[in-house]
This record gives sequence, structure tokens and C-alpha cells, in this order.
Amino acid sequence: MNIRMLQAGEQPPMDLLLLADPSQKLVEQYLSRGQCFIGESENGVIVGVYVLLPTRPETVELVNVAVDEGCQGKGFGKQLVNHALEQARLTGYTTIEIGTGNSSVSQLALYQKCGFRITGVDRDFFIRHYEEEIVENGIQVVDMIRLSQDL
Ligand code: COA
Repeated sequence: MNIRMLQAGEQPPMDLLLLADPSQKLVEQYLSRGQCFIGESENGVIVGVYVLLPTRPETVELVNVAVDEGCQGKGFGKQLVNHALEQARLTGYTTIEIGTGNSSVSQLALYQKCGFRITGVDRDFFIRHYEEEIVENGIQVVDMIRLSQDL
């Protein structure tokens, strides 16, 4: 997979972005405030995406990491997260953060395998910010697990 920045005028891969976050409103906010990167297969099909969102001075948040469902489990997710870490480091950020739901078992595994450590829990985040109930791995998504790492 070849990863590059989405160029001005190119359409962001909305279906893929909504895989990581069902709220179109939040995704659009992230896209307007952050920088979108896409991962393309050898034949130019977009199979992965992530957004780097500046939050505080020297801190960036990695949001909307997603891999096309047919291409998951092949290492692309790890490649995207590691690319984001390198990109953030090269841009001069000193801290990178990420958040995921309490039920997102494989995401929590991936992020910790890429060096993130848990820093806190934003209790009831998904109750406050999402109208519909979300269930994953048979667990209701209610809390946001926050993770970060120094770059
Ligand atoms: N226990 C231990 N490790 C696990 C695991 C589990 N239950 N589930 C996954 N992993 C590990 C894999 O083994 C792999 O590590 P390894 O390379 O050391 O074996 C790593 O997590 C990730 O695998 P990878 O193939 O790179 O991930 P992927 O291409 O399937 O992408 C997501 C991962 C999360 C991006 C992808 O599943 C996705 O797009 N999901 C939907 C969108 C989403 O939820 N985004 C995140 C929002 S917070």
C-alpha cells in the first residue's frame, strides 16, 4: 500500500472514513481542520485512510484510521498508524494522541502494538456525542479510551 496526502480538489474517501466514525458531522469537522492521508493499492484503489488533527501546540490527534473491510488483517492498519507517527514526527509534533471505544478490542491491540499507552478514560463520551446506540463485540460503546505517545 502506498500512503500519500490527499491533494486539494481530491474527494476524501467518505465510505472509508465513516467506517471509523459513524458521525458524518464529526468526520467533516475533522476533514476541515485536519490533514487527510490515503493508502492506495498497486492499482490505485483507496484501501486505507487516516486524518491528522492538530489539537494543542505540539500535539496532534490521529483520527479516522480505517482500512477497507475486504483488506483488513493484512497489516495495512499497522502501516497507516506507523506512517501517521512518522508524519507527525516530521511535522514537528512532540505528542500524538488517539481515542477509541471501550469495546474496540482489536483497535486497542493495534494502537498499543504501535507504542501508544492508555492515558485516561472519557466516561460517557459516546452517550454525549452520538445519538444512536453503538454496539461492538457485543459490548455497548459508552466510554472513550484515550491513548498517547511521545514522538
Ligand atoms: N488481540 C491481539 N492483537 C490483535 C487483535 C486482538 N484481538 N486484533 C488485532 N490485533 C493486532 C493484529 O494481530 C495486528 O498486529 P500484528 O501485526 O502484530 O499481528 C494489529 O492488531 C493490526 O493488524 P492490521 O492487519 O494492521 O490491521 P487492519 O489492516 O485490519 O486495520 C483497523 C485495523 C482498526 C484500521 C481496521 O480493522 C478498521 O478499519 N476497522 C474499522 C474502522 C475502525 O474501527 N477504525 C478505528 C477507529 S478508533
